[in-house]
Amino acid sequence: MRDFTGKVAVVTGGAEGIGRAIAERAAAAGMKLVLADIDRARLDAALADFAGRGIEAIGLETDVSKADQVDALAALAFERFGNVHLLVNNAGVAHNRPVWETTQADWDWVMGVNLYGVINGLRSFIPTMLKHGEEGHIVNTASMAGLLSQPGLAIYNASKHAVVTVSEGLHHDLTLRQSKLRVSVLCPAWVKTRIHQSERNRPAGPGTSPFDGLDPVASKVGHAIMNAVENGIPVEDVANCVFDAIAAQRFYILTHPAYKDAIKVRMEDILEDRPPTLRAAL
Ligand SMILES: NC(=O)c1ccc[n+]([C@@H]2O[C@H](COP(=O)([O-])OP(=O)(O)OC[C@H]3O[C@@H](n4cnc5c(N)ncnc54)[C@H](O)[C@@H]3O)[C@@H](O)[C@H]2O)c1
Repeated sequence: MRDFTGKVAVVTGGAEGIGRAIAERAAAAGMKLVLADIDRARLDAALADFAGRGIEAIGLETDVSKADQVDALAALAFERFGNVHLLVNNAGVAHNRPVWETTQADWDWVMGVNLYGVINGLRSFIPTMLKHGEEGHIVNTASMAGLLSQPGLAIYNASKHAVVTVSEGLHHDLTLRQSKLRVSVLCPAWVKTRIHQSERNRPAGPGTSPFDGLDPVASKVGHAIMNAVENGIPVEDVANCVFDAIAAQRFYILTHPAYKDAIKVRMEDILEDRPPTLRAAL
């Protein structure tokens, strides 16, 4: 898809961070917006801000881990605008804790948002997008943690690896059908957002606070992650990468090319029968 003017973009987790920047970039390209977010106050503020600038934007408070809420989002988008041309399954949360200390509730929350959120988006939107037969693009936000296995981030790694493989399979399924829908998977490394404060969005209320009761190794890893996020690239750079990739029909969106070496090392670890190499940054 190269011409975005007058087309419709849906962005989950669109009230803040990378999602908000993608929505801004979509609006700058002349798109109409449908934003979904669990944070009602920030969503309303974003919608008011877009409206104040004459940008057509609607939104729905949505917990993407809930299939019925994502169905309602799709119904709203198709009813209001007729079709959706860009679906960005972006909402996500992170949790830092060694795997043996993660609770069932932690797994349910992070997998619910990061994996089921994406799956719900695909199931709720793709059938109608296909029926329309127009050009369209789906972007699923994974992470560099979908291509590498970082310490301390067991659930996050698992959820993001799953998003990468779901996206790869979707690419094949669409290509085999010669569909006009394309898919990309967004795999950023560190981006300056509030992802390290994800507990704020936990519907059941914060579980353990991010650094509560961590052993010295986990605490060191947690601080390294927080520091890396706080020194990450700006969200606008990620949004620009996304739109460049859509126009170029590029599947993998790697916002941090320096990490390609680490991906290569991981693949070589597998092929050469070595244990996983730990990237020096952590
Ligand atoms: N920031 C990074 O370094 C980084 C790196 C790689 C991937 N990512 C991914 O980018 C995506 C966006 O994260 P971000 O960095 O902008 O974080 P962020 O915390 O700034 O923004 C996340 C947005 O998602 C919303 N959200 C959270 N739970 C939700 C739910 N259940 N339903 C709907 N909305 C929900 C939040 O309210 C917020 O607006 C996530 O999928 C994240 O995993 C981030």
